[in-house]
Amino acid sequence: MREIVATVLENKRIAENVYSLTFATEGEVKVRPGQFCMLGVRGFPLRRPFAVCKAENDRITVGYQIKGRGTKTLSAYQAGDKLSALLPLGNGFYVSEKEKKIAIVGGGAGIFPLISVIRAYAESKEIHSYMGFRNKAAVCMQYEMQRGELTIATDDGSLGYRGTAVQAFMEDIGALRPDVILSCGPTPMLRALKKAVEGRNIPTYVSLEERMGCGVGACLVCVCEKSDGSRARVCRDGPVFDINDVEL
Ligand SMILES: Cc1cc2nc3c(=O)[nH]c(=O)nc-3n(C[C@H](O)[C@H](O)[C@H](O)COP(=O)(O)OP(=O)(O)OC[C@H]3O[C@@H](n4cnc5c(N)ncnc54)[C@H](O)[C@@H]3O)c2cc1C
Ligand code: FES
Repeated sequence: MREIVATVLENKRIAENVYSLTFATEGEVKVRPGQFCMLGVRGFPLRRPFAVCKAENDRITVGYQIKGRGTKTLSAYQAGDKLSALLPLGNGFYVSEKEKKIAIVGGGAGIFPLISVIRAYAESKEIHSYMGFRNKAAVCMQYEMQRGELTIATDDGSLGYRGTAVQAFMEDIGALRPDVILSCGPTPMLRALKKAVEGRNIPTYVSLEERMGCGVGACLVCVCEKSDGSRARVCRDGPVFDINDVEL
């Protein structure tokens, strides 16, 4: 993990309330799919966590939704601005050699860590993604998701499948028979996925998006409950967990 002062290269709106931010690090940073960074935002003492969507040499791209004051402030950053960043953080997604067919189920800001998975495995694995959005105007980074097979689901049916990403996925799961399922999205979506895949015996991993303080295991703001009654720090022990190991 490194703490750096990054330089913003680009910060652009890519969908309704959604931005893509690319910054330059000092030298190359090796990032595994599903890892995240903590970005400092002017005027806020606590950094905010964002999944690394793309890592290319010394360039890192994150995608973010405007949620509150921190992300609103971030959206005003311009090329040349400085940004304090901690990265890479967390465990990330791991796909074994024998898992050849990956199903990806994402929703909302959960698509961003999953894009890093698609980019990492597009050449070596068969990827089927099911990505859910509120409506057509919220869809972004389609060109990245299309590196594999892609089904887009929208709540209002304005693009692709009408319904949720989990519903779209469950219509195909029998024929698809994926070796592994990777997912990230709002907790109700992850809960629905957990219920839907129960008893199917397919390894399923989820990336959790708890609120965070430090991002490095020190403050316990991000603690989540595990199925065995113990607790885990999402920033340090996750953010990726076996779906059966966590309470959703
Ligand atoms: C590991 C990890 C990776 C993430 N990756 C991304 C990403 O790639 N893109 C993206 O848009 N967002 C991502 N998030 C969520 C993002 O960190 C929050 O949306 C952001 O910190 C909100 O900051 P804010 O100051 O704008 O909002 P605040 O003013 O702090 O809060 C506004 C609203 O957002 C909610 N919120 C705050 N933090 C989180 C959180 N961590 N998860 C869910 N809801 C939250 C609050 O409860 C509140 O309702 C990630 C979170 C984690 C833990
Ligand atoms: S955010 Fe501080 S321990 Fe996880």
